[in-house]
Amino acid sequence: MLNEKIEISLNAQIKMEAQSSQFYLAMASWAETEGLTGTAKFLYTHSDEEREHMLKLVKFVNERGGRAHIPDLDAPPSTFDSVTEIFKMLLQHEVNVTASINEVVDICLSEKDYTTHNFMQWYVAEQLEEEALARNIMDKLQMIGNEKSGLYLFDRDLEQMAPAEQNKE
Ligand code: FEO
Repeated sequence: MLNEKIEISLNAQIKMEAQSSQFYLAMASWAETEGLTGTAKFLYTHSDEEREHMLKLVKFVNERGGRAHIPDLDAPPSTFDSVTEIFKMLLQHEVNVTASINEVVDICLSEKDYTTHNFMQWYVAEQLEEEALARNIMDKLQMIGNEKSGLYLFDRDLEQMAPAEQNKE
């Protein structure tokens, strides 16, 4: 049985993951309208993954006798200045998600809920990967700068990264 503090923190994490999915979906849609098909594909996949992260939490809360709340979401921006801006925002967002996961883990320890603590380790590992991936993409973008041909190759690279993302779990 989940205690109240744990249930509240897991529900906050459900919102965070749902918000991430929505945010990346807005980025994907913008990239698609800009003709950046590889970037769009990568971001659509990323958005789907975040929904999976949310679902995993929803099911865990309900299976442990709690009640998952499906939250209202803030509207994400509908336009972005550039691909670099998108990935800068994405990296910052992932850093915030990591902080929020660490908070859940802290609460698990202070409440001595080792089952939820164990469950959350999957998210801790996932965040390591996601932050590393976002940093890697930012490094590539910094190398490219404003070069059009570089952006073309970058977009093609991301197209290839998208299916690998999907097979990750
Ligand atoms: Fe599910 Fe990217 O955090």
